[in-house]
Amino acid sequence: MDKREKNAPMEPQTGRKHRYKAAAAPMRGGRGPGAGRFGEKPKLKDSKGTILRMLGYLKHVKVALIIATIALLLSTVASLISPKISGDIVDVLARGVSAIREYGEIPAELRGQLGAELVRGILWMLGLYLASVCFSLTQSMLLVRVSQNTVRAMRRELFDKIQTLPLSYFDKHPRGEMMSRLTNDIDNVSNMLGNSLMSIMSSIITLIVSLSMMLYLSPLLTLVAFLVIPFSMSVVRLITSRTGKLFRAQQAALGEVNGIVEETVTGSRVVKVFSRERLVIADFREANEEYCEAGTKATIFSSCIGPIMNVFNNLSFALMAGIGGYLVVTGRVASVGMIQSFLQYSRQFQRPLNDMAGQVTNIQSALAGAERVFEILDADPEPADAPGADPLESPMGHVEFDHVTFGYTPERAILKDVTFEAKPGQTIALVGPTGAGKTTIVSVLERFYDLQEGHIRIDGKDITDIQRQKLRDSLGMVLQDVYLFAGTIRENLLYGNLDATEEQMIEAAKMANCHSFITRLPQGYDTELAEDGGNLSQGQRQLLSIARAILSDPKVLILDEATSSVDTRTEVHIQSAMLRLMKGRTSFVIAHRLSTIRNADLILVIDGGEIIERGSHEELIEQNGFYANMLRSQYRASIKASA
Ligand SMILES: Nc1ncnc2c1ncn2[C@@H]1O[C@H](COP(=O)(O)OP(=O)(O)OP(=O)(O)O)[C@@H](O)[C@H]1O
Ligand SMILES: [Mg+2]
Repeated sequence: MDKREKNAPMEPQTGRKHRYKAAAAPMRGGRGPGAGRFGEKPKLKDSKGTILRMLGYLKHVKVALIIATIALLLSTVASLISPKISGDIVDVLARGVSAIREYGEIPAELRGQLGAELVRGILWMLGLYLASVCFSLTQSMLLVRVSQNTVRAMRRELFDKIQTLPLSYFDKHPRGEMMSRLTNDIDNVSNMLGNSLMSIMSSIITLIVSLSMMLYLSPLLTLVAFLVIPFSMSVVRLITSRTGKLFRAQQAALGEVNGIVEETVTGSRVVKVFSRERLVIADFREANEEYCEAGTKATIFSSCIGPIMNVFNNLSFALMAGIGGYLVVTGRVASVGMIQSFLQYSRQFQRPLNDMAGQVTNIQSALAGAERVFEILDADPEPADAPGADPLESPMGHVEFDHVTFGYTPERAILKDVTFEAKPGQTIALVGPTGAGKTTIVSVLERFYDLQEGHIRIDGKDITDIQRQKLRDSLGMVLQDVYLFAGTIRENLLYGNLDATEEQMIEAAKMANCHSFITRLPQGYDTELAEDGGNLSQGQRQLLSIARAILSDPKVLILDEATSSVDTRTEVHIQSAMLRLMKGRTSFVIAHRLSTIRNADLILVIDGGEIIERGSHEELIEQNGFYANMLRSQYRASIKASA
């Protein structure tokens, strides 16, 4: 049985509060915190817990991670030693220069010595650069692995979890939002694990090593270097607080743009039917304009950071070079090379500070994403079967509702004290006005929701004591809006019963009157259906879904008759296929066709969640109540239509 088709009647009925807000969810590549939700600031409830839990995912890749960290350490250190060596090389040169000043030329003995030192220094530098490149390559390759594997594990866990969630969860969470958690949020997490984590580690190592080298080389100059930092930091903070707001605005605008696109693409037919193209275009223009505006501002502001930081960096560089030079000239420091190394380290010291400032937004959005992912992972799944739950071997199809009271929310009962019995093989017709609770009756029978009061029994066993999967295996559903997956006709037919043979499949297709039209298709059973079976007619889709139900061979059948009319010939086909399908099964038919209703063993008239009349067609006509009235008005309507 097609699980997704079963879900259809429980589509969230909450509706959108704002035309575009809900659709703003599936944004991709969102920057900044709370990516994926319309203008919502990240509500980081427990950042520490979230971080720890995120890091928990790295447990499985511990070895790779340790190697990557060591490689990172080595590559960073290797690249950090070179300024010291280049300083030494400068010193060698300086010694040569001063020798020339003193003696007019470099004495042979010193020449050999300096030459050897020079070559050694250059070789060292070369070796270190090479090592640094190798290590950093190793590190990044390992890291890509680590982050991809981690995210795969997370995505898999999330997807598996979604399969266990009760339908009530989907009532409360719109599809777009679930989508965005599986894609956008996980992308953010992956981004953080892949880039931010190592970037931060590398920054910290660089910071520590260069700071210690600076202190070792000259505490005085280090002090000078630190003088500038408060100024540059406060300027950066000023800018990032502005850009944060702007990025959020940009995201909100992007959400709106996405929302309009999504809505008009899925609803393209409706847009055309009501000739709303011009309005939609105007809406889109406006949102697009806003997006462009916000994006431009945000990017301009954030691109100011670099140049401004540069001004400060150069300022401090000039300051240090000046003071360093003064120290050398006044003889307080012996070596130009030392100053040269120091200046290089101070440059390296600045970089991680800038980098870390840049990572803050990434980390915030990753945390927000992770939190949203964990929220699903922590949601209560459908409760597990009770130990010793009945496997419902060879069910008979006896169904009993015993004083059933149910509401989707505890406050509002939808079904009120519903009691009836269906004997094996009987056909029960459910009729009643829209919103009466007909679909709800079949939803509780499938145990999509649990009852507030009363019992439902199959073959005398309470459905809460039956293994959930076995229960659903014994129930089959054919819905008004047939759900077909993108795939071949064969795959769609076999969805309910993967073990069926080719003969069985063709047999079922023949019983459902669809074999002939399938064989007339160019690729027959291998014809690819578009998503949702868009390239088949309404009637053909219904016949396919009947064949699918026949193939899955349930003991209890639930049919939601399509209200849309098809041509008389197809109608006859569908009728006869349904009759064949219902034969030998207990069937609940949410009926619209008079012929189906008339043939039912029992008609239940539902209104306001209560059974207000019950009996056979003749009995109900005799009673001359709601049912008789309903038939009369239907009859009048059909007379009017044909007149
Ligand atoms: N998932 C849900 N969450 C909350 N309320 C719901 C949900 N599904 C249905 N309802 C409410 O339950 C009531 C009965 O709905 P139900 O779908 O059972 O009606 P129905 O008889 O099948 O109507 P129709 O003939 O139009 O299909 C309605 O008032 C509806 O608003
Ligand atoms: Mg319904």
